[in-house]
Amino acid sequence: MKQERMDKILAARTEYSRKDAKKLVWQGRVRHNGKIAVSPDAKVDLSADTLEVDGKPLVLGEHLYLMMNKPAGVLSASRDPKQPTVLDLVPAKYRRSGLFPAGRLDKDTEGFVLITDDGGFAHRILSPKKHVSKTYHALIDGPVTDQMRQGFAQGVALEDGTVCRPAGLQVLEDGPSPLCQVILTQGMYHQVKRMFLSYGRRVLHLKRVAMGGLALDPALAPGQSREISPQELSAVLEEI
Ligand code: URA
Repeated sequence: MKQERMDKILAARTEYSRKDAKKLVWQGRVRHNGKIAVSPDAKVDLSADTLEVDGKPLVLGEHLYLMMNKPAGVLSASRDPKQPTVLDLVPAKYRRSGLFPAGRLDKDTEGFVLITDDGGFAHRILSPKKHVSKTYHALIDGPVTDQMRQGFAQGVALEDGTVCRPAGLQVLEDGPSPLCQVILTQGMYHQVKRMFLSYGRRVLHLKRVAMGGLALDPALAPGQSREISPQELSAVLEEI
């Protein structure tokens, strides 16, 4: 049972400062276990209690794990003075201090971004030693050759001489611009694009569809996110 002061929790889990969080309570806008809260220093049990601000429930679990379907054009960074970031798209009910995207997608890449406030978990899934798989769908501008299949299976040599770990490559839809599934167990800068470029192919569209054993929820439209359940989290963790 982890207890914390109400104003501290409000400040951590909403956009309000600690000072404003106190005011919220004094203004009668906060409900604690269904009753209007009167004292900002009241203790809240994070595992059992409920808190609402202006009628909207706050997520009180110790750590938050969100799956977001990142749209193209949005940065997978925490904050940027000029451009929209994935954190700007997090629904108000999930906002809290300490959230950040665990891993990066290029600005023009869509799909699965895991957003959390659990630094330890992020460190583990991103650790180069853990090899958590990431699955991508890539539309490319020319056919997949036997040479490419072999290269992906053995480890593609990038233009700077770096040799990638073996990766999965499967054609999902054939044609002049085939749709390919690529499974990586590492995460280098522009890796999918650079791997295809080693064979003269350009990636026309890229989407991450899974991390570890957890697939992006098809019900999430670009820009939407939802909480990852503890069971689902274990599908990501199964590899680490
Ligand atoms: N590989 C890329 O080239 N870009 C991404 O965003 C992710 C993987």
